[in-house]
Amino acid sequence: MSGRMSGRIAIVTGAAGGIGRAVCERFLAEGAGVLVTDVDGEAAAALVKQLAGAGLPGRAASRRLDVTAPADWTRAVQLARRRFGYPDTLVNNAGVLAVGGVDAGTEADWDRVVGVNQRGTWLGMRAVMPAMTFAGGGAVVNVASVFALVGSGGAIAYHAAKGAIRAMTATAAVEYASRGVRVNAVCPGTVATAMTDALPDELAGGLVAGTPLGRPAQPEEVAAAVLFLASHEASYITGTALAVDGGYTAR
Ligand code: NAI
Repeated sequence: MSGRMSGRIAIVTGAAGGIGRAVCERFLAEGAGVLVTDVDGEAAAALVKQLAGAGLPGRAASRRLDVTAPADWTRAVQLARRRFGYPDTLVNNAGVLAVGGVDAGTEADWDRVVGVNQRGTWLGMRAVMPAMTFAGGGAVVNVASVFALVGSGGAIAYHAAKGAIRAMTATAAVEYASRGVRVNAVCPGTVATAMTDALPDELAGGLVAGTPLGRPAQPEEVAAAVLFLASHEASYITGTALAVDGGYTAR
């Protein structure tokens, strides 16, 4: 039986982290060719080695890609084309978090967080979506956050960037619909990764306490939603933001 991503060619950013890694594993298990990228190029290369050893049906290659660097994007698209063909799937997953609120955030945190999450997502769509039209269409999944949907009383730069990702997702979906490219966002709640490990206990505990399902998500549970939105099963879904949050925004 062919996989849900067989014949597909994907670029995944921030792939060495918790959610990115789970997305790469799912895509490879479903038969895709995957360019595994991260600003930490060694970690991306190590992951590809591990995944090759797992005997998954898809093919993987790695590349260092800083999502804030336009030249890195150009080279990544070139490499994907050389190794696999025109990319038809992009997962803008790379992200960084800073916790300062309105009156505590610093300009340096703002520039870093908005630079990676927001500007990086735009640069990725700008670099890859035209290539997708040569592939005959495709799908973009942008990893936003529940912090794109509701306030938390902190992390002003992160909220700004994730909210912008949601808005960019909608407008890119409208712009590219006639070119056969769907664009959606996932909005995870608390996920058990290095990003949440780094949060102050009080903040992390508060997020889980506000989650009706009463636990953080595993990265694989977010990857399942990314796979759905990237796959043909979501053929009539574009411009949406899917909360994968254990009910956090349902209250
Ligand atoms: P993580 O910290 O495990 O992984 C993030 C990855 O992004 C790392 O491998 C890091 O090297 C990479 N990265 C950082 N800056 C980069 C850059 N300039 N260019 C390319 N790669 C870069 O975090 P996690 O949890 O896997 O996060 C993935 C995405 O999910 C992020 O966009 C994050 O904001 C989002 N998210 C995470 C949640 C959580 O609770 N963990 C909740 C909601 C959203």
